[in-house]
Amino acid sequence: MDKRIPIVQLFKAPVNALIDTNINVKGWVRTKRGNKNVAFIALNDGSIITNLQVVVDLANFDEELMRRITTGACISVNGKLVKSQGAGQSVEIQAEKIFIYGEADPETYPLQKKGHSMEFLREIGHLRPRTNTFGAIMRMRHHMAYAIHTFFHQKGFFYFHTPLITASDCEVAGEMFQVTTMDLNNIPRKEDGSVDYDQDFFGKQTALTVSGQLEGELGATALGSIYTFGPTFRAENSNTPRHLAEFWMVEPEMAFYDLDDLTALEEEFIKYLVKWALDNCQEDLEFLNNMIDKGLIERLKSVVNTDFVRLPYTEGIKILEDAIAKGHKFEFPVSWGVDLASEHERFLVEHHFKKPVIMVDYPKEIKAFYMKQNADGKTVQGTDVLFPQIGEIIGGSVREESYDKLMTAINERNIPMKDMWWYLDTRRYGTCPHAGFGLGFERLMLFVTGMANIRDVIPFPRTPKTAEF
Ligand code: 4AD
Ligand code: MG
Repeated sequence: MDKRIPIVQLFKAPVNALIDTNINVKGWVRTKRGNKNVAFIALNDGSIITNLQVVVDLANFDEELMRRITTGACISVNGKLVKSQGAGQSVEIQAEKIFIYGEADPETYPLQKKGHSMEFLREIGHLRPRTNTFGAIMRMRHHMAYAIHTFFHQKGFFYFHTPLITASDCEVAGEMFQVTTMDLNNIPRKEDGSVDYDQDFFGKQTALTVSGQLEGELGATALGSIYTFGPTFRAENSNTPRHLAEFWMVEPEMAFYDLDDLTALEEEFIKYLVKWALDNCQEDLEFLNNMIDKGLIERLKSVVNTDFVRLPYTEGIKILEDAIAKGHKFEFPVSWGVDLASEHERFLVEHHFKKPVIMVDYPKEIKAFYMKQNADGKTVQGTDVLFPQIGEIIGGSVREESYDKLMTAINERNIPMKDMWWYLDTRRYGTCPHAGFGLGFERLMLFVTGMANIRDVIPFPRTPKTAEF
């Protein structure tokens, strides 16, 4: 078969040298229309959102072949590339030879008409990447992943691979998916009746990681600055538009960073990614801006051009209490010490400051054991980056580098440290100030695509009771 030219090259690269030459394109038929003499096929090959118009002079083609070319069919087209007469496209191809790889029965192919609901498209998750919307989102996922690696590489960070199977629970939230090869119908037990994990595959109880941070700290305290980027798993039973049971997280960890360094990196990083999207994903963004969220591009630009607010938790609580005093109603109560609900975060970001907020210095009771304790004895140097419409997009902190203070925090929380000796060794040998954060990749994707549901920014979402495809 002839060598295919990706359609993106006909719309984004200089194309003059190809005009009036014979080329080959391959892709999937989006629509076919026309009259007795000529058919117009909109062909999409996924390399760009734009369809290439294939002009078919019906006098030269077999009727039977044309009948088999329907929406969803996969075809290969040889023909002359010409400047387009019609409005809306710059070039088109005049078909000389068409080969059908695969037909798509119009009776059963589910992507016939436009305008399917997001819910329906989730049911056909195996085919939804062939729609304009999901094509745009999946191309943008790639661009964002590439931008993440580029950002850190340029800054001298090393990509550090942390394990997916682990015996430690970084967030100590009890949300881990257990990994076992034991026969669940015949679980080996010890004399006291408890499960005998000595007989399990790893000789101990293991689970899928909720975060690569603890191992990331081992990397940072050896290599200086590292980042991880991989899947993480949380068995939290939250059926919300912002939670997945399997999601991708980016976790940079830096030796010798303090709180200001940390929040500066968080801000620089997100702005870099959003600017990358604006610079590299124009066609897809324009489509999403038209079809999904009319304010999308404006919102992305405004984030790139604004300073994020640094807001101590204690001040945030004051703002919320003032709002309540002035008559604003929240569903959940507000007082110093509570974990803010999403309505509170959104009030601060969307209503009060009208820009992204980096909240810092949280009460230690509502944050994880590893966060650096402040001198006030009450707060820790945790940070959450709060975004319009998304809420928390990043969670991070300066880490407690003192062995004794870390042990106190661990004991206060009754965390079993049996399997954590290696983590404590970082504080025992050559400990150093360090900090890091985790960006939820799909939360970022929600922001840059304007999509409303996190199930629609990952190819195959995993949520409670759903693991299809
Ligand atoms: O705030 P989290 O739980 O922080 C950590 O896991 C730290 N160990 C990160 C670190 O400091 N290295 O999670 C980090 C981010 C959240 O801000 C959110 O964007 C995302 O991960 N996230 C989820 N995204 C989708 N579905 C879920 N169930 C998520 N849980 C957290
Ligand atoms: Mg968090």
